[in-house]
Amino acid sequence: MATLLLDWLHLLIRIAHVVAAILWIGDSFLFMWMDRSLVPPSRPRPGDVAGELWMVHSGGFYEVVKRRTLVPAEMPAALHWFKWEAYSTGISGFFLLGIVYFAGAGMFLVDPAVAPLSAPAAIAIGVALLIAGVAVYEALWRSPLQRGAAGTSAPAASIVGSLLIVATIVGLTRLFAARAAFLMAGAMLGTIMVANVANHIIPAQRMMLAATREGRPVDVTLGLRAKMHSTHNHYLTFPVLVAMVSNHFPLLYAGRFAWLVLTLLFVFAVAVKYAMNARARSNRWAVAAGIAALIGAVTLTTGGTPDAAAIAALRGAPPVPFAEARAVIERRCQTCHATRPSNPSFPAPPNGVVLEDPARIRALAPRILERAVITKTMPLGNITGITDAERRTLGAWIVQGARLDGTR
Ligand code: HEC
Repeated sequence: MATLLLDWLHLLIRIAHVVAAILWIGDSFLFMWMDRSLVPPSRPRPGDVAGELWMVHSGGFYEVVKRRTLVPAEMPAALHWFKWEAYSTGISGFFLLGIVYFAGAGMFLVDPAVAPLSAPAAIAIGVALLIAGVAVYEALWRSPLQRGAAGTSAPAASIVGSLLIVATIVGLTRLFAARAAFLMAGAMLGTIMVANVANHIIPAQRMMLAATREGRPVDVTLGLRAKMHSTHNHYLTFPVLVAMVSNHFPLLYAGRFAWLVLTLLFVFAVAVKYAMNARARSNRWAVAAGIAALIGAVTLTTGGTPDAAAIAALRGAPPVPFAEARAVIERRCQTCHATRPSNPSFPAPPNGVVLEDPARIRALAPRILERAVITKTMPLGNITGITDAERRTLGAWIVQGARLDGTR
């Protein structure tokens, strides 16, 4: 009962997280696009006008005029802020992290083959990572590396920031189960994005409005700095999405060079975003870099790994009858993958995968090969202690044709 209610909570928080993130990212993309699409005013307009643009949507025509600053007389009665999209994404994300990765730390966060952490230690490292990510980001963008560049990111700070992200990914893949390492990298960047809204973007806007209300001159560098942090957030959206979605693709995180796969995917993600934003010729390099990174990631994850050679060898190994493969599945998989799992964390078979009926096992053989033999991402956290010999037994039975009668 309790686990079933927890599942409901998980579902509702996950939906809230996805919806909030869609709203936030949608806003981010729309405002970046509007800024890029502004044109000089078509007619005289009052105030400190940065540009105008026209849009058609939902059966009407929208005229947008961007002002850098306002004078007291121009203060609108209702001014719409955009912050709850970010905050609710962050809050729901943190709860989701807690309910899936922290509550199930022994299974999801820790992999004894990677680092022998206790569940509380792994959780503490996870929380510390989120805090440290924001602290290091703040230090970097206030450091001498960024000096003098008020409203744009100084190249030195950008390069150091990117290298720090790669170093963090490497570190995470040495500490956590591979899948959790990807997720934590995404969670760290997502936390930096939320903190950016709370620490920089909203306060700058508040200060600008306060100055306007009190009739003081408005410091326009506040707006420029807010825009810079907003641009950082914008370029982090795709990497965060990539990190979160990669979680569902064991081929990405299971290999020895998982850190490189995620790094290349980040390069790809940022390049795509850059190409979407940059006008004209300057995006050719971004497209080329993005395609190269993608090809690199595909090659790394599908190329001739030692595993692939081992799989080929299994084909020529002595025939493995179904009974042997089935015994391994009964011992190592059925605590979770049964109609009624005995593992208390799973009130229902995970992903609906039941490995009891021989015909079903045969039908799922390609997935079993990928998860238990090639990527070794099942059993989850190797909680049931499958041995390499048992993995080979499963693999040989599958590559030899996954026959139920055990004959060749
Ligand atoms: C501790 C519980 C647990 C054990 C033991 C376990 N699994 Fe899983 N399995 C899961 C969970 C949770 C998921 C869904 C999340 C995921 O796909 O990583 C899953 C998903 C799967 C899937 C479906 C996803 C896909 O990629 O197609 C397959 C197939 C699978 N497991 C095979 C196995 C095999 C084979 C074994 C035994 C060698 C095994 N599992 C042992 C928990 C477990």
